[in-house]
Amino acid sequence: TLIPVILCGGSGTRLWPLSRETYPKQFLRLLGEDSLLQQTMKRLSCVQGLGPAILVSNESSRFVVAEQLREIGIENARILLEPARRNTAPAIASAALHALSEYDDPLLLVLPSDHVIKDHDAFCTAIHYAQQAASKGDLVTFGIKPQSPETGYGYIRAGSTETDPAQPVLEFVEKPNRTTAEQYVASGNYFWNSGMFLFRASRYLEELTEFQPRVAEACREAVANAKKDFDFIRLESKAYSASPDIAIDYAVMEKTNRASMIAMDAQWSDIGSWASVWDVADKDPDLNAAQGDVVLQDCENCLVHGTSRLVTAVGLRNTVVIETADAILIMDTERAQDTKKLVAELQRSK
Ligand code: GDD
Ligand code: MG
Repeated sequence: TLIPVILCGGSGTRLWPLSRETYPKQFLRLLGEDSLLQQTMKRLSCVQGLGPAILVSNESSRFVVAEQLREIGIENARILLEPARRNTAPAIASAALHALSEYDDPLLLVLPSDHVIKDHDAFCTAIHYAQQAASKGDLVTFGIKPQSPETGYGYIRAGSTETDPAQPVLEFVEKPNRTTAEQYVASGNYFWNSGMFLFRASRYLEELTEFQPRVAEACREAVANAKKDFDFIRLESKAYSASPDIAIDYAVMEKTNRASMIAMDAQWSDIGSWASVWDVADKDPDLNAAQGDVVLQDCENCLVHGTSRLVTAVGLRNTVVIETADAILIMDTERAQDTKKLVAELQRSK
């Protein structure tokens, strides 16, 4: 069995003012009718032999998650709720432990819920190869050819193989500094880590127990004492909260020597900023992406997103305009990374 584990408990503010602490980007309907979470679920339809998905989220998002699943007709998903945010290593460990309570050591396909992948065939082919490697005991990552020295990603150096699509991971570095990232990209030997993983539930837990025993221990207790409440499975609060706050990338992927990588060329984007939304959005001949009730005249290279009223613009170039009921962002496209600073400033002055 292959069980999808969907991580949808992160918070994010890089797409402010649309994404907020209480409404992070995985739930946004940014590109078309489906939210990024719904797109993540639908994309799986090309994978054969999948069991019901396990979604890992938190209390405050539970109704959004349930409602968005219902909208796309998914009724058999398990929804694990974290009492506190402890990042992805414990979130995935809890899903793995829950999966082991239902199945005999299934393979887990761990997926972030806030990415765009345009080429579904390439995505499915990569998963097909990854299953073979994971069945042999590998912790499989999916590598993306890097386009720039992004510091928000993990970097993978993989050994070459003649025939096996799974290349051994020689080095995994999570979020290097700028200089290091520049060297990696210039060398041509590194891939970006896509944030998707495929491994046996037991393999992940073994590695976690070795490198982060306190995370593994906390999750064992939290899952053993979890309470079922209709569609939701609530992890026990005291135990889960005692887990260290750490991402899988630092906890396991940087440390393990059992990782391999499948190169994936599937037009992947992690939608880290409004500039990347513009990148993947449908555009008019003047390269404007107009989303919502929007009228543009003589604009070029703009992203204009309206949510609650008519938005009009004349003669704009390279500009992002995001309108919501209580806040409006107007920004030079080149400065899209700076929303982080802006939000930090807003939080200070609150
Ligand atoms: N349930 C749950 N609980 N989900 C979480 C939590 C948590 O505490 N924290 C994050 N997530 C979810 C997010 O919603 C997202 O879908 C996924 O886990 C990844 O978390 P991010 O916080 O977005 O990670 P990142 O983007 O900084 O880094 C990861 O992804 C990059 C690619 O986008 C790493 O795996 C990098 O190595 C990778 O390059
Ligand atoms: Mg991310």
